[in-house]
Amino acid sequence: TPSVLFDNHGRPLEYLRLAVTDRCNLRCFYCMPEEGIKYMPKQELLTYEEMERLVGLLTGLGVRKVRLTGGEPFVRRDLVPFMARLAAIPGLDDLSLTTNGVLTAPHVPELARLGVKAVNLSLDTLDRARFASITRRDELPRVLDTFYALLASGIQVKINAVVMDGQNIEDLVPLAELTRELPVEVRFIEEMPFNGGSHAATLPWDHRRIRQHLEANLGEFIPVPTPAGATASEYSIAGHQGRIGIIAAYSRTFCGTCNRIRLTAEGGLKTCLYDQGVLDVRALLRGGSSDEEVTEALKNAFRYRAANGFEAEQRRPVHQLSFESMSTIGG
Ligand code: GTP
Ligand code: 5AD
Ligand code: SF4
Repeated sequence: TPSVLFDNHGRPLEYLRLAVTDRCNLRCFYCMPEEGIKYMPKQELLTYEEMERLVGLLTGLGVRKVRLTGGEPFVRRDLVPFMARLAAIPGLDDLSLTTNGVLTAPHVPELARLGVKAVNLSLDTLDRARFASITRRDELPRVLDTFYALLASGIQVKINAVVMDGQNIEDLVPLAELTRELPVEVRFIEEMPFNGGSHAATLPWDHRRIRQHLEANLGEFIPVPTPAGATASEYSIAGHQGRIGIIAAYSRTFCGTCNRIRLTAEGGLKTCLYDQGVLDVRALLRGGSSDEEVTEALKNAFRYRAANGFEAEQRRPVHQLSFESMSTIGG
């Protein structure tokens, strides 16, 4: 087993979030403007071969979990064969995916065959009209097909719902109610102010208020232990099959155990969601760097991590994030 790499704050590197594309087939207002973002030309994206090489190098440094993100991963061609190649990399024991579910249902059996353990499904409402207004696309039925296909496949499902003041507050309880009869985790996420929306200076629905609101409607939350490095605080409710998660993505309460790095679709390394990108990995790969050189550069970047998302934000040349879309960062 490879030794694990620790950062300058004693946190291990275990988890890579890999954005395979910046494109998306939805237009969630908190993520992208209506007209979309200026997508990267194809040749600027990492190729699957480049990504596979990087994952190989990172597993050599102790990374054992890779989550594919985007944009929407299934918008990129031949995603599943690429996943099959990743699944074969020794040392990688957790291959998972975050998807909006629009194109996912037909691939679910193959994902199960590849040993994908968990799929995180972005779903902010169960109401078709509100889904269409939040995502600007009328695709709820196909997302629900994916949800049911995942449940039937035995792949663990986590629903990710971003909590948006004035948009989907009436949806929180119905979403949470899914946990009564189904063995799913429904996770409520603090909205992070990124591109494509106007946001108040303070967060109207922080993790405390989300919890209070849900408990008032569903009964007491019983905290359950989570693995080190988890983003969600998890809860069970008496009589419910599933679990509730609350992710303080904006309050950033979990930075102290953060075990992850990110690669953007164009091969930028982020050691925090909130940093501006700390290494151009694509330039190294395309400049002919050896495996040893790339590995060394990755290790060095990981030794200069910000202590938390606030410090990462402070370090940015411009102290705001409004130029970026979550679709290029990968969430
Ligand atoms: P698991 O691997 O199932 O624990 O999922 P995850 O929470 O790591 O990933 P997912 O893609 O489901 O993301 C859920 C929410 O957490 C999204 O809104 C992400 O943007 C947010 N998130 C994930 N990682 C981080 C992080 O390092 N910092 C912050 N602030 N938010 C994060
Ligand atoms: N705030 C919080 N979560 C967000 N996501 C996308 N944009 C935001 C945001 N501004 C979530 C998506 C997806 C995950 C990868 O990130 O809903 O589930
Ligand atoms: Fe697409 Fe996800 Fe952004 Fe929505 S949040 S537009 S599903 S990348």
